[in-house]
Amino acid sequence: MSAPDPAKIQIFRERLREEWTGDKTVAGWRKWHAQIAAFTRGATEAILEAAQLRPGLRVLDLASGVGDPALSIAWKVAPSGRVTATDLGPGMISLAEELARNQGIANIEFSEANAESLPFADASYDVLTCRFGIMFFPDLAKALGECFRVLKPGGRVAFVAWGIKEQPFFTTTAGILLKHVPVPPPPPDPDAPNLFMFGERGRLQRALEAAGFRDVHEEDRIVPGRWAGSLEEYWQQFSEIAAPFRPLIEQLTPVKKAAAVVEILAALRKFWNGKELTLPLEIVIGTGTRP
Ligand SMILES: C[S@@+](CC[C@H](N)C(=O)[O-])C[C@H]1O[C@@H](n2cnc3c(N)ncnc32)[C@H](O)[C@@H]1O
Repeated sequence: MSAPDPAKIQIFRERLREEWTGDKTVAGWRKWHAQIAAFTRGATEAILEAAQLRPGLRVLDLASGVGDPALSIAWKVAPSGRVTATDLGPGMISLAEELARNQGIANIEFSEANAESLPFADASYDVLTCRFGIMFFPDLAKALGECFRVLKPGGRVAFVAWGIKEQPFFTTTAGILLKHVPVPPPPPDPDAPNLFMFGERGRLQRALEAAGFRDVHEEDRIVPGRWAGSLEEYWQQFSEIAAPFRPLIEQLTPVKKAAAVVEILAALRKFWNGKELTLPLEIVIGTGTRP
């Protein structure tokens, strides 16, 4: 990894905080959390397996959002294991706390935590997990250094990130929006956090190795993303939760937006069986251990 430019990183940090802790994003995730959990079930199963969980382990889940996969991890390590679920802002994690209470999960605590400066002691966790969060860490090397620091020697990391951009999750929605925006966004800064950055084969593996992890393994996998509601609802949900793409939607005039939505629904229909939508989600799983 090349040395990051501190001024650029500061800009990425401000943008990400605004995108992910802003009221609109938090409200969208609170509204759709149950459907998101069902849609991403395959990714949850992948990280539970990659983390090699068992009762008794102490687990730190980063960027936990509204509680996936932290709440499922808590069941796996119960009764003697514990999970610390964390997120950049209080909005998402407060719903995770509410859900845990409703489900009677007692072996979990919640904390606001920035992955770049974790408020936890050295060598305090057996396992560190993070699903769909690592792509947003502005200074990736710094965040992975923190992951390394808080793990016990022999401890394990398990990350799940989005795979390549050219997959239906993107091409049926944001890919179509991009064709309709009046001013196409400039090409992305290669150093900037990017939802699909780990679609580049070997990138996650290299980042984990550079941070000092051993026995690093990277795997691409396709898991089914199932949505039992209507296509219109799926699009509505996407437009409310997909923080990085909201600026694209907000640029469109009502006429352009209506045209884009017609195209989006037509693209989604190819994955619709009359009852449910199933998108093949390409994810990347990265694991390693602290020597
Ligand atoms: C796409 S959501 C994923 C949430 C959840 N893990 C899931 O899989 O549904 C991304 C989450 O990353 C969090 N996040 C972004 N940057 C972060 C950082 N630097 N430190 C901690 N969390 C961060 C956001 O607040 C948001 O909740």
